[in-house]
Amino acid sequence: MRLGLDGRHALVTGGSKGIGYAVAAELLAEGASVAICARTPDEVAAAVKSLSEVDGGGPVSGHVCDVTDADAVSALVASAAAEHGGLDILVNNAGGAHPGGFEDLTDEIWKRDLDVKLFSQIRCTRAALPHLRRSTAPRVVNVNAVYARYPDPAFFATSVNRAACHNLTKVLAQQYGPEGILVNSVNIGFVVTPQWANIRARRAPDLTESEFFAQLAAEEVPLGRFGTVDEVSGLVAFLASDRASYITGASIDVAGGMGKYS
Ligand SMILES: NC(=O)c1ccc[n+]([C@@H]2O[C@H](COP(=O)([O-])OP(=O)(O)OC[C@H]3O[C@@H](n4cnc5c(N)ncnc54)[C@H](OP(=O)(O)O)[C@@H]3O)[C@@H](O)[C@H]2O)c1
Repeated sequence: MRLGLDGRHALVTGGSKGIGYAVAAELLAEGASVAICARTPDEVAAAVKSLSEVDGGGPVSGHVCDVTDADAVSALVASAAAEHGGLDILVNNAGGAHPGGFEDLTDEIWKRDLDVKLFSQIRCTRAALPHLRRSTAPRVVNVNAVYARYPDPAFFATSVNRAACHNLTKVLAQQYGPEGILVNSVNIGFVVTPQWANIRARRAPDLTESEFFAQLAAEEVPLGRFGTVDEVSGLVAFLASDRASYITGASIDVAGGMGKYS
């Protein structure tokens, strides 16, 4: 399927690795120009270098930015839009997990988690709005988690804070639908990325990565395995494209069937 993203300009937060990197590569391969951001300068530079080699890809730029810093987010969006000549697609992907039960979570951890998950999406979307309003096909895709609708005490903060992100997507879609700005949520279950090294180290230091993945998948995932980043990136690119022009406020799981809800 041709998604027709030629000439579109995208910003992918957390694009240096994991899901964000795969999304950036997919958007580039579909003809978009892409700006990525993350906090670690070396990783941003390495990602830009390899993204520049994507076959048929448009221009790519890297920005060192912490999405919990409001001023840095404003500067990021302004410079990405100036460098690429506009902004049509915002992928709010930056984030990470703070696994832990209720009694392990201090106020500080709660606030940090809310900041990186919810407020990053709020800030980036707010900063992107003037540019999206000038786009002929404006899109926001929020990368969220199945835990938003399938809470798990082992991922307590994620379960609570992603529920807020989920409703943020819904109300943004309602508010900006009349202006033609489409906002959707892609909810991840378990996808193999660098963040899982951390989670395994905290939760199951005695298991190998594949043992840990197999155990979690057997408990939770009907398809019986973790997903891969390119099983997410295709959906994000589709939602960013003209083929998804009547989809907004949707919440789509990429989770191998995980989540016991209808
Ligand atoms: N993988 C899963 O199974 C899974 C499940 C549910 C939800 N998710 C969500 O999917 C998104 C991508 O996750 P992933 O698994 O690909 O994670 P990852 O491999 O750890 O990559 C996260 C990316 O976000 C960046 N990042 C983190 N905090 C940031 C901040 N404050 N400011 C700017 N960039 C930041 C990281 O770079 P720096 O650290 O250098 O900043 C990196 O580029 C996250 O929002 C995550 O919560 C993933």
